[in-house]
Amino acid sequence: MARVLTGIQSTGRPHLGNILGAIQPAIQLSKEQKDESLLFIADLHSFTTIKDPILRKENTKAVAAAWLAFGLDTSKSIFYRQSMVPEVCELSWYLNCITPFPMLANAHSFKDKSSRLSDVNAGLFTYPVLMASDIVLYDAHIVPVGKDQKQHLEMTRDIAKSFNVQFGETLVIPEARIDENLMTIPGTDGQKISKSYGNIIDLFLSEKKLKKNVMGITTDSTPLEEPKDPDICNVFNIYKTVANKDQILQMRKNYTGGNYGYGHAKTALFELLRDTYSEERKSFDYYMENETELEQALREGEEKAREIAKSVLDRVRKNIGF
Ligand code: TRP
Repeated sequence: MARVLTGIQSTGRPHLGNILGAIQPAIQLSKEQKDESLLFIADLHSFTTIKDPILRKENTKAVAAAWLAFGLDTSKSIFYRQSMVPEVCELSWYLNCITPFPMLANAHSFKDKSSRLSDVNAGLFTYPVLMASDIVLYDAHIVPVGKDQKQHLEMTRDIAKSFNVQFGETLVIPEARIDENLMTIPGTDGQKISKSYGNIIDLFLSEKKLKKNVMGITTDSTPLEEPKDPDICNVFNIYKTVANKDQILQMRKNYTGGNYGYGHAKTALFELLRDTYSEERKSFDYYMENETELEQALREGEEKAREIAKSVLDRVRKNIGF
């Protein structure tokens, strides 16, 4: 058996980077498995930064709608909100008590966040322990994540191994599945796409707004007539992440041939996004408007998730001696 599990934080509407880097690969991997996968919305993790209740509900809804729009099959995957399986919090406490303080103090993501954010709370500090709990609570074997989560997965393995040494074989030691070939998805300013940089491409905007989003990509001032170097252009670099080989080749020719302006390239990118994802965009809107359907899909997943969680937690309690 190989059980795949992954989570995505609900810090906002998923952007192009979340979709290409996390949602699509996880759905693809889950389709390749015989066993049920677990795909969840890490809403407890987003509580480390987002405190507004209404915003949180909206974000969770948008993340759920995005997963479903991109083809998550709820008959083959267990789809749930992390917060709806409170067993994870209990496990997290146990794991907190066997996690060395310096391990957390040295985590890259904590150092980064604590230097950037004004609200440096203890949840931010113990974030990796909750993440370890997310994973071992379901006996997960394979965890597809982005490169930025590599250290969190190493910590998860260390914590789980140390638990097994102290309390006997209890937890499955998971493996990260990191797609090293995956390109870093650039944002509108050429930096890595990220909500915190304010440079996202939001696929789920209305047509008009999506066009505006794409037109806002930063370009240099090379005049229209002059040939351009595609490889240093943000528009081309984003285009490349979605287009097929022929489209990329053609776009390269357009750039180097001259008489092709950035406005043309942006229009082509806008049309590519609109047309490639027309079904997903429609489906996203559908789910956003049909909240009961979303809620039902999640409730079904939550029931199944909880069953697994309870049985693993029983094992943990028994071995600790509670
Ligand atoms: N920390 C992950 C991120 O920011 C989200 C996450 C939470 C997660 N729990 C997880 C990913 C468990 C994989 C497995 O992307």
